[in-house]
Order: sequence, then structure tokens, then C-alpha cells
Amino acid sequence: MFRNMRWLMVLSLVVIVLVALAACAAPTAAPAPTTAPAAATTAPAAASGKMEMFSWWTGPGEADGLAAMFAVYKKMYPGVDIVNATTAGGAGTNAKAVLATRLQGGNPPDAFQLHAGLEVQGYAPDQKLETLDAFYTQQNLAAVFPPGLISLLKSYEGHFWGVPVNIHRANVLWYSKKLFAANNLTAPVTFDDFFKVADALKAKGVTAYCYGSHDGFEDLNQFETVLIGKLGADGYNGLWTGKTAWTDPKVTDALNTFKQMLSYSNTDHAALTWDGAAQLIVDGKCGMEIMGDWENGFFVSKNVAATDYGWAPAPGNAGIFDALSDSFALPKGAPDRANAIAWLTVASSKAGQEAFNPKKGSICARTDCDPSLFNPYSQSAIKDWASNTIVPSVTHGAAAIPSWVNTIQTAIALFADKGDVAGTQTTLAKACVDAGVCK
Ligand code: GAL
Repeated sequence: MFRNMRWLMVLSLVVIVLVALAACAAPTAAPAPTTAPAAATTAPAAASGKMEMFSWWTGPGEADGLAAMFAVYKKMYPGVDIVNATTAGGAGTNAKAVLATRLQGGNPPDAFQLHAGLEVQGYAPDQKLETLDAFYTQQNLAAVFPPGLISLLKSYEGHFWGVPVNIHRANVLWYSKKLFAANNLTAPVTFDDFFKVADALKAKGVTAYCYGSHDGFEDLNQFETVLIGKLGADGYNGLWTGKTAWTDPKVTDALNTFKQMLSYSNTDHAALTWDGAAQLIVDGKCGMEIMGDWENGFFVSKNVAATDYGWAPAPGNAGIFDALSDSFALPKGAPDRANAIAWLTVASSKAGQEAFNPKKGSICARTDCDPSLFNPYSQSAIKDWASNTIVPSVTHGAAAIPSWVNTIQTAIALFADKGDVAGTQTTLAKACVDAGVCK
């Protein structure tokens, strides 16, 4: 309960501020959201035709989880042909733009991947998406998801826009157990520990920090964990409400620290995706990577023995769970609407989530999944989700509106390349003002 109340409070605050400011900043505000769709919200008994599901899940683990949930769907609706529409690129780097174009052009898929939170604002939901309020009522979904998640799902205009399938954790440090054992190292807890471990590996000629920056989101994913580590949960949360100033010396410290961390990384990072960097751990070619727990799905997919990879909270992040949730949305005018409703039904079901999550590396959004289906990492995540302080991931749509996230992401990607601490901090401070959250 505690975790949910904390997240609920943080997100309520984020939402109140952002919605109020969006209203002030946009005199030509979008029309009021539609009320619950008049059309049916229950899946058809005997379905036929097709169902096009759009996502960016093409990587190892991601694709496996999706395939497992498709199998559940196919068993229930054997007459429906599933069209697996994917656009590759971690965190939806490319998929989000493709999707926005399709929605704007009146060519929507039947259902699509959407992060729970304010990300939906980027798709003109009032015009382009159905609210799922009636679906939630009909399926009694408020009873199967934690209250904090419910609040996040409703953070845009107080309506449900997506059905969640999981909870992911963005602030995990993954490491090579073999390299650590060979060098008598233990997983770092603090930033000082991190640099001691990094120095020890470097002295042995081993790349300490595994880093892929190909898709553009990885830098911010790592940096948000450094912000959490330096500012703590409250300080980090305050960045999204205006309570913490982006000019704070702790933000400067975070930038300097991130720069120092990157100095231990592989030089070919621009050519590597997050999973390319994970492969370096599998190959024993480098020591540590900070990435979300879709990396656990990668290790599961590659059959990496639990003895070969270890995990810990990112430096300074102990006791804090940096959370995001993948959900599925229903566009207005979905060509195969009834089959899409069937997909939402499977995605929100216990059977669907128990098939998907052990392969995806995430844990269920539902509270009633069987923990014994999950590997040791995920079992630790289930415990942490229940006991840690929850903060929203900015990289993955939970903490801020998309235009603000994009500005931050671009600034941090540039920072990772150029290392301009003062200039980047000025850009970040301005971005908060431009988003209407800071004065
Ligand atoms: C996140 C998404 C995860 C995973 C990851 C890497 O945004 O929520 O499910 O796909 O990107 O692609």
C-alpha cells in the first residue's frame, strides 16, 4: 500500500501541475475528451478476420514475450489472424513517430503499445484514441491493478487510455559475475564503489562500463538513475513538479558523475543498442551496464545462466524503484475493433500476463500472478516493487509530457558526446520553464 500511496501522491502532483499548465499554455485546447465509447467493450465470442498490434518489441526477450501473449490470444481466438506490426528501435525511438503519422493520417493499427502516464498526450488522444473507462468498469480492472498504477494510467485528463501488461524497472545495474569473481569484486552500492570497481577492471584492461547509445534513449535512461542517486527519491520527483530546481548543485554533480562514468565505457557505443551492450556482459567483455530490466528478458532469451549475470540497484538507488508500465491503447476507427478489444482482454488477463512477463523480463501489472513462474531476478523485482519507494521513469513516459522528455533526451545524448556540464544544465533548466513547470 505504502508504495502505491507514494507513487499516487507524486503522480497526482505531477499531473495537477502539468494539466493546469497545459491548460494555461494552450488557449486553443483540444476538445473535451469523449465519454465512454458507445460500442461494445467485451471481446467477441467467435472472432474472425485480423488484429494488427503495433509495437517496438523486436529485441530478444521483447519479441519472445509478445509471441507468448499472441499464443494465448490465438488459443482463445483461433479464427483471428494476428498482424505483428513492429518498428524496431529501443524505447520506441522510431516507433512513436511512425505511429503518430499513422494516427494523424487516419490509418491506425487495431491496438498499439503505449507507456502508462503522460506519454499519451503526444498522440492527440482526445481526437485519436478511445478512452477505456467503460472497458475498465466492465472488466473490473481497478480491482486487479495497484492503486498507484491506476492513478498513473489516468494521469492524462483523468481517463484510462491504455491497459497495462507489466511493470518494468529502469534503474538496474547488470554485471558480469564471471569478471567480478575473477577480480574479487562485489556489486557497487555507492558511486564511490562504482568508481573503485571501474578502476579495478580498467587496471586489468577490461572495459568497465558497457554502453550502447545507438537508439538515443539509453543516455537518458542511465542519467535518470544518476539523478535519482544524487537527488534521492524526493529530489528527483521534484524535478517533474518544479519543486527541485534544475539549477541545483546536485544536478551539476549528477552531470559530472555521469560524465566520469562514461569515461570508463567502450568507444564503439554509438554502434551498439542496449542489447548489444548486454551481449558484451554475456561475452565477458565488459563489467557493468545500467539499463531497465528488459535486459533480464534479454538474458532469459539468450539462456544466460543465472550464475553468469548479476544485478543490483544502480549506484545510490538502493530502496528506490524507478518504474514504468507498458500498456496497450485502442485508436478511434480501429479497423478490427472487436478483435482489438479481445487483445486488451488477453493483455489484462492473468493468463496473458503470466505468459508475457517471465519472458519479457518484467513483472505483472496485476497483483495476482504466480511469483514461482518468474526467474530469480524478477522475484527480487516483485519484492522491491512491494517494498521500495516508487519513482516514475522520465525516459519511458511516466514522469513528463513527451515534448519535454524529447528536449531532455536530446540534451543528454549531446552531453554524453560533448560533456558540456554548464551548457547542458542551462538547457535542462530552460526546458523545465518551457514545459511550464518551472518559473
Ligand atoms: C521501454 C519499454 C520496454 C522495452 C524497452 C527497450 O520503453 O517500456 O518494454 O521495450 O523500452 O526497448
